[in-house]
Amino acid sequence: MGPDFSKLAEELDKSNALGFLKTFPEQCRNALELGRRLEINDGRKISNIIVSGMGGSGIGGHILKNLLKTELAIPIEAYHSYSLPKYADENTLVFAVSYSGNTEETLACMEEALKRNCLVVGLASGGKLKDLGKYRIALPRDAPQPRMAVPFLTLPMIPIFEKLGLIKNQENSYNEMLSLLEESRNEIDEIARDAAAELKGKFPIIYAGDEMDSAAYRWVCELNENSKTLAHFQEIPEMNHNEINSEIFPENTAFVFLRSGNEDAKIAKRFEITKDVLKDYGKQIEIFAKGNSLLARMYYVIFIDELASCYLALLNGKDPEPVPKIAYLKKRLAE
Ligand code: PA5
Repeated sequence: MGPDFSKLAEELDKSNALGFLKTFPEQCRNALELGRRLEINDGRKISNIIVSGMGGSGIGGHILKNLLKTELAIPIEAYHSYSLPKYADENTLVFAVSYSGNTEETLACMEEALKRNCLVVGLASGGKLKDLGKYRIALPRDAPQPRMAVPFLTLPMIPIFEKLGLIKNQENSYNEMLSLLEESRNEIDEIARDAAAELKGKFPIIYAGDEMDSAAYRWVCELNENSKTLAHFQEIPEMNHNEINSEIFPENTAFVFLRSGNEDAKIAKRFEITKDVLKDYGKQIEIFAKGNSLLARMYYVIFIDELASCYLALLNGKDPEPVPKIAYLKKRLAE
């Protein structure tokens, strides 16, 4: 018999983070709607895109870069600090994303972007950022923690790319993703419980193909913040040129291979060889995405990590919601 997660959640999950995260499919639906509703009329030619944000609010740039690699004809970068790169100018589209609206690095970037006349879109649920700039998306305020609203921190940007003519219509992918997530909620919950049980007491190392390295990064962030666990990720093929050569791993390593289900044959072959090379260095788990579109596959594996990291928190005797060290650091910085 597996762990009694209901009992653990009753004892530890004070903000009902798990209950909130199970509404992930509905959050995705509402998040897309927020992007669709933004009226943005701007005739300028966009030549690059920057997504500024920290932690849970900063993942969007990475996910969008993966998702839109074959769609966007211009570069997109994630920025996680106080300033923008030199190239940011009036032809740059800047998304400033902060769930609280008060994260100082993101506020600084937003102010700089406005000064440089970039086309700026702010996404916030409150705080100072909510009132800055001409184009703003007001996010719902009900998430127990910013990262738990990941659909809202990522998906509203995609319809905006469509409106600006930067990508073609994505309606089919949206519909496919939403039906898949809704239909798979219970199945994903099961996979997440099993993954958490496998990762208990382990040092997770997540490997994904280049199509999904942002999902691997997301897994790590959620294991850090929700499960209070150190974790690491790398991308295949890049890790085949450095990390695979390592002979010293933590004793309790668990490799998680995130499989997109649609890998190029060359990447699939690399996964098989990598698994073989690493077989003596730790336990191996494979997580397979489902779906036809990359959007559906990406959010399928992200939904798994949202739940798995919470279940792992419970197995670690932790409440998934609080991030006391991040809160302490923010408090010290404000002194
Ligand atoms: O998810 C979290 O709680 C953090 O990673 C925050 O997202 C991060 O500290 C930035 O805060 P905010 O999302 O409010 O800008």
